[in-house]
Amino acid sequence: MNLKNRKNKSIFRKFRNREHEVWSILAGRRIKSLKNYAHPMHKQGWKLLGLSARSIPNFRAINIKLKSLTGFQVASTGVQYEEDGPWISSLAERKIRVTEYIRSKKNLEYTPLPDVFHDVFGHLPFLANKKYARIVQKFGLAYVKAKTKKDKLKIANNWWYGIEFSFLKVKGKIKVLGTGLISSEGELNNALSEKVEKLPYDADMVGKINRSAHKFHKKLFVLDSLDQLEKIVDKWLK
Ligand SMILES: [Fe+2]
Repeated sequence: MNLKNRKNKSIFRKFRNREHEVWSILAGRRIKSLKNYAHPMHKQGWKLLGLSARSIPNFRAINIKLKSLTGFQVASTGVQYEEDGPWISSLAERKIRVTEYIRSKKNLEYTPLPDVFHDVFGHLPFLANKKYARIVQKFGLAYVKAKTKKDKLKIANNWWYGIEFSFLKVKGKIKVLGTGLISSEGELNNALSEKVEKLPYDADMVGKINRSAHKFHKKLFVLDSLDQLEKIVDKWLK
């Protein structure tokens, strides 16, 4: 796939039938396994955006819906993998950059880098929720505002543990909020198992973890509410 000269393009390439097929198999599997575990916002957003397990969505149509719901817009990363910095910074403008790369059918349950399935199935439904979208934008604003490497790392770590790999309490029960857990069978099974310690969310502790995208987590964090996460981000913005 040649992604040259596609930097930040809001108009996406045409996906091939075999790529839609990968989406379709994965979406079907995930919807089943998430049934009792995903935070209800995911299903609500899925419906509001008119996403379908049949094919990778048409991003022009998604952008019209997202614009009216929360003002977010999907754009292409233009590259297969974009580093933390520019990716998080774009959230400040209510832009979510999505890669156009998708894993192969031969290796359905593993992708070395986030792909369009993770970005869309994991992230987009949540961005249809006003409060969640506002917090996501604040992450971007805080990242842009942060002056030191240390502060930027703290924010990126809180993004990782608060947005990508988090749990959120709903009426006393722990539900899956993290987009990386939502989009990956292996990560979800690991996170739900007893091998993973679930700790109350602690922004300072999270900020200092030396995280790795290539190993399963041993510790994950549970948010009491989205308000808790928003308060953390608001502090950085003051
Ligand atoms: Fe992600």
